[in-house]
Amino acid sequence: MAQFDSFEFDSTARRLKKVASVEDLRRLAKRRLPAGVFDYIDGGAEDERTLATNSSDFARLEFRPRIMRDVSQLDTSTTIFGKPASMPVILSPTGFTRIAHSEGELAVTRAAERAGIPWSLSTMGTRSIEECAAANPTGEKWFQVYTWKDRGLVEDLVGRAKAAGYGALWLTVDTAVLGRRERDVRRGMTLPPKLGPKTLIDGAIHPGWTWDFLQGGPITFANIVGRHEEDGSTAVTLADHVARQFDQALSWDDIDWLRGIWDGPIVLKGIQTVEDAKQAVSVGVAGIGLSNHGGRQLDDAPTPVSLIEPVRQEIADQATIICDGGIRRGSDIVKAIALGADAVSLGRPYFLALGAGGEAGVDWLLDFLREGLERTMALSGCRSLAEIDRDLVAWKR
Ligand code: GLV
Repeated sequence: MAQFDSFEFDSTARRLKKVASVEDLRRLAKRRLPAGVFDYIDGGAEDERTLATNSSDFARLEFRPRIMRDVSQLDTSTTIFGKPASMPVILSPTGFTRIAHSEGELAVTRAAERAGIPWSLSTMGTRSIEECAAANPTGEKWFQVYTWKDRGLVEDLVGRAKAAGYGALWLTVDTAVLGRRERDVRRGMTLPPKLGPKTLIDGAIHPGWTWDFLQGGPITFANIVGRHEEDGSTAVTLADHVARQFDQALSWDDIDWLRGIWDGPIVLKGIQTVEDAKQAVSVGVAGIGLSNHGGRQLDDAPTPVSLIEPVRQEIADQATIICDGGIRRGSDIVKAIALGADAVSLGRPYFLALGAGGEAGVDWLLDFLREGLERTMALSGCRSLAEIDRDLVAWKR
């Protein structure tokens, strides 16, 4: 007998029903978002080689799956800086999040709370520290800072994050200057997006996004509104903004300053060598964020996945290792854990999910990662994260 699927009346749900992977989400986001917005999220630095290898390096690893191990009960849970997480996944900070969807960080943080995983707010975020805390009262929240030349502003932001219950701090250390993102250069990408004839045509062919954008109210750097002349209320390019506001003199001595204003865990986001991981441990940071900023900064930087094992060997258990870059599937999470990471972190996939399907898109992505993690564990004979050990993976010859 022929069976017909019942018709899905919700258009977002209908679109998401046809999505099977992060690559599908990306294609859907590309269809729904104006080209400049999509390229800002999707693009990387220069020739985008690091952007590509961040994920393709996971394909250089194969599993050594073990069989007949009674995988009827699986446990994906872990503890990150003493706080429980339902799986070893953290949502990375992203700037300008509202350009994908007017709810922006509020949608992402609510999805993270439902999924039971830590979520991070960027200094360049487009929703405030306090409104995000109100949207996600019970989940684990991290805050990310760049070191601005205006240290008073950073101190103020960190104080607000602490007062609002954020539990860990990322210090991004790979952005002395902005990487050259040539897609953004070509399109003259600014925040807020400038309204010219090109934007209007683009808007007309992306009506869903345009309607949401127009009714969503002005997009600004919500945390620094009124505190700084560059708060996003007048159009700036990110490269100019970084050049004017970020402190190129940032050095290891600044960790003491940061510790003076934040007594919780600090994760250095953007460690790219074993030497710097070692130095990070010697200055006492709690977390090593192996990251090249999603291939958006230095092209031909090493991939985070290739650094996990050498860094783990060097620092043993002296710090938590977070691998950020190229994670697109649950199997990537398992590979990172097998090599010695404590958790992974990802930004671009949820940003694209937000553009593809709003909050439901982010929920879809987090379910997809969890199912993929569980499936990979079942197929490789690991019942818990503790059973995912170095023997589970081998570099392909
Ligand atoms: C901001 O952090 C960006 O990578 O665009």
